[in-house]
Amino acid sequence: MSRATRPLLLGLAGLAATAGLAAATQHWQERARWQEAGQALYEGSRPLTARLVGHEQDLPPQATRCVNCHSGSSAIAPALTPERLTRHLPRRGGPPSRYDEASFCRLLRSGVDPAWVLLPRAMPRYTLPDRECRELWLALSTR
Ligand code: HEC
Repeated sequence: MSRATRPLLLGLAGLAATAGLAAATQHWQERARWQEAGQALYEGSRPLTARLVGHEQDLPPQATRCVNCHSGSSAIAPALTPERLTRHLPRRGGPPSRYDEASFCRLLRSGVDPAWVLLPRAMPRYTLPDRECRELWLALSTR
């Protein structure tokens, strides 16, 4: 390598590193925004649409909040931690299974879990766009 090309190459490497860092920072900021949006859905400060199996009408928005049933001392369903969602666990008598974004969204919409076991009727079935489902998934699976 000549003396002239070395600083040039170093300069280019520096530029590439800076661009990489900027892209990574942007990625993390974007991810944090999605998680925050998902947390708001989970807590119910952004409304969700859902109904109980066999019902013809949507539930009032305050009845669709995940936290109503999944957090706090009166919880009737398990806490939705990243460990609970992403580890291979036996659920409701089925073989061990874990969630990914697709199976999590399927569960919310249809009540079918990753081992194809149906959830109890107590959990509402949600009508939600892919974006909101991804926000919820990111908030709950990576906390
Ligand atoms: C009215 C009560 C209720 C609400 C509201 C509710 N759930 Fe549930 N959820 C349940 C019940 C009951 C189960 C089944 C628990 C069991 O099998 O032991 C369940 C199960 C689940 C499971 C399966 C957990 C596992 O280990 O397989 C996930 C995931 C889940 N709920 C996510 C959500 C999310 C996300 C929301 C909000 C968008 C929500 N739930 C709202 C009652 C509720």
